[in-house]
Amino acid sequence: MCGIMGYAGNRSVPRVLLSGLKRLEYRGYDSAGVAYFVDGRLEIQKAEGKLCNVEKLLHDKGFDHVQNENGGIGHTRWATHGRPTTQNAHPHKTGPIALVHNGIIENYQDIKCELLEKGHRPLSETDSELFGYLVLEEQKKGHSFVEAVRQSFLKVEGSCSVVLISEEEPGMIVGIRNGSPLVVALDPQGGVFFASDAQAIIEYTNEVAFVEMGDLVVGHQVDGRYQLDFYDSLTGTKLDRTTTKLNWSVESLDKQGYPHYMLKEIFEQPQSWIDTLNLLLDRAKQDPFPLAAQPSVELLRRAKQLQIIACGTSWHAALLGKYWIERWAKITVQVELASEFRYRDPVLSPDTLVIGISQSGETADTLGAIREMRSRGIPTLGICNVRGSSMAREADAALFTAAGPEVGVAATKTFTSQLLSLLVLAGALGCERKTLSLESGRELFDEVLRLPHFMDGYLHRSSQWLAQIDHVSKQVYRRKGFFFMGRGYSFPIALEGALKLKEIAYINAEGYAAGELKHGPIAMIDDEMVVVVLAPRDRWREKTISNLQEVKSRGACIIGIGNSDDQAFEEMSDFWIPLNVPKQIRPELFEALYPFLLVPAVQLLSYQVAVLRGTDVDQPRNLAKSVTVE
Ligand code: G6P
Repeated sequence: MCGIMGYAGNRSVPRVLLSGLKRLEYRGYDSAGVAYFVDGRLEIQKAEGKLCNVEKLLHDKGFDHVQNENGGIGHTRWATHGRPTTQNAHPHKTGPIALVHNGIIENYQDIKCELLEKGHRPLSETDSELFGYLVLEEQKKGHSFVEAVRQSFLKVEGSCSVVLISEEEPGMIVGIRNGSPLVVALDPQGGVFFASDAQAIIEYTNEVAFVEMGDLVVGHQVDGRYQLDFYDSLTGTKLDRTTTKLNWSVESLDKQGYPHYMLKEIFEQPQSWIDTLNLLLDRAKQDPFPLAAQPSVELLRRAKQLQIIACGTSWHAALLGKYWIERWAKITVQVELASEFRYRDPVLSPDTLVIGISQSGETADTLGAIREMRSRGIPTLGICNVRGSSMAREADAALFTAAGPEVGVAATKTFTSQLLSLLVLAGALGCERKTLSLESGRELFDEVLRLPHFMDGYLHRSSQWLAQIDHVSKQVYRRKGFFFMGRGYSFPIALEGALKLKEIAYINAEGYAAGELKHGPIAMIDDEMVVVVLAPRDRWREKTISNLQEVKSRGACIIGIGNSDDQAFEEMSDFWIPLNVPKQIRPELFEALYPFLLVPAVQLLSYQVAVLRGTDVDQPRNLAKSVTVE
């Protein structure tokens, strides 16, 4: 996911930009760049790969200590529109303007057509660069730089943030946001900071303002003093915004200001998806789902059938993986709990690959089953998050997720990273085996690349969505029991939602395939029971809604989780958690991605309920992160 840094003030601009971007390096990226003033002109240095390549360019040109008050912006990019090349790296310069962008411009194709008609010739393949041309067009109409930015932003659909500077307005930085996070601050030594994460500026000041959705912010000097002015990007009216004093102790620096690791890790999911994709894919290739060459991939290509074994949350990932792999790659997939599999006598057909999924790579039952299969000469593959774990060492090959360290005992980001790996494998095998058309594969892959950006836009501390989930939790946290129900892709998520609630809130909760509720559990429904209905707009929605009616008519309290525009579903629900959905190219392809929107919703619901009940969220009683006993 992209990192943004901007600075104008008394310190050396390139140095501040580089140090801020270094603090954002954890976000994972494939190219980087900076823009800063030299003799009144904007100088741009950008490069593929790591930030040190940009640092070297600056150093070689002797620009790393440039000192002037005119400001600059920097960026670490993770490619979505256009390959990770130097040309596509940010900042993009258009006339006197340089900009960096985080997020997606969804209507970029329409904008591009218009700009081409007007004779503009963008140099990169990105959606981001187009924004600079929009600003130029608005300036031609006589608008000031700031007003031109605001007018241009009104033309953009999607969720993103953009930070810009102009040779015509030295010393001024303009930021605008309706998605990806943006933070600003005044430099106590005189200056203004802009960043996509407070971490990038915390070494200079702990007093920051989180830019709200729909805000435009201008950092500049007025009468010799730096100030930050906020405006409503829709109307242009001036706004009052307050600052937040970040009280980040050493311990809370680990938690980055979050009250619990679990919450931090829920919010880190978009980042862990990017890191996982970076690890799995060879982005230099043009094909959809271009798997990086590794032994695990060869094992998968040879397999005629897959037997997946796992425990707990990893088992839920496996259940969902089966849906995707069978649908797109047309390979038979069996899924079983490792503790059952290893103590029966499974009959495996030749050419079956046994896959163990385990975030820790140490779970005794999964590991035991892998060892047993190896001793029988059956090929094995471990999907884990921990390099050097027993499973990674003992299976014939390992495939890693890149969720980073997960401290909270209840799995969150490791789970969705497992899901993403399975989805990518399903898409890749489908394209290779031609069971998924190249066109669908490409569309799906583009959506997968956009997903982390999209989620990053509304999975953050100040999001309205979090406040809504908090509100729902307050209404239900004292209830005696919960059912989670869903069909299709939402069924494993229902199981996971119930498990999360049991694990951290110690509430009796069960996950069910929506069609199964009437075969017994419905007898338990009364007005003390909450039923969480997972019914995004997919091929199963209608059926799930019928099942909702069955439990509602028996008095259950319904929490609906569905598309934000699904009014009918919202009206049937006592409480409502909306899912914002990006503009979809083909809904029948996008439906496979709903789990990535649903999972954070059920994770946050469980988290808030647990906090209200006062349990130990990060270290729930009786549970361990790595279960090395049977
Ligand atoms: C423990 C953890 C769960 C996890 C399960 C399987 O019970 O508390 O969060 O899902 O183990 O762990 P694994 O490391 O194999 O994914």
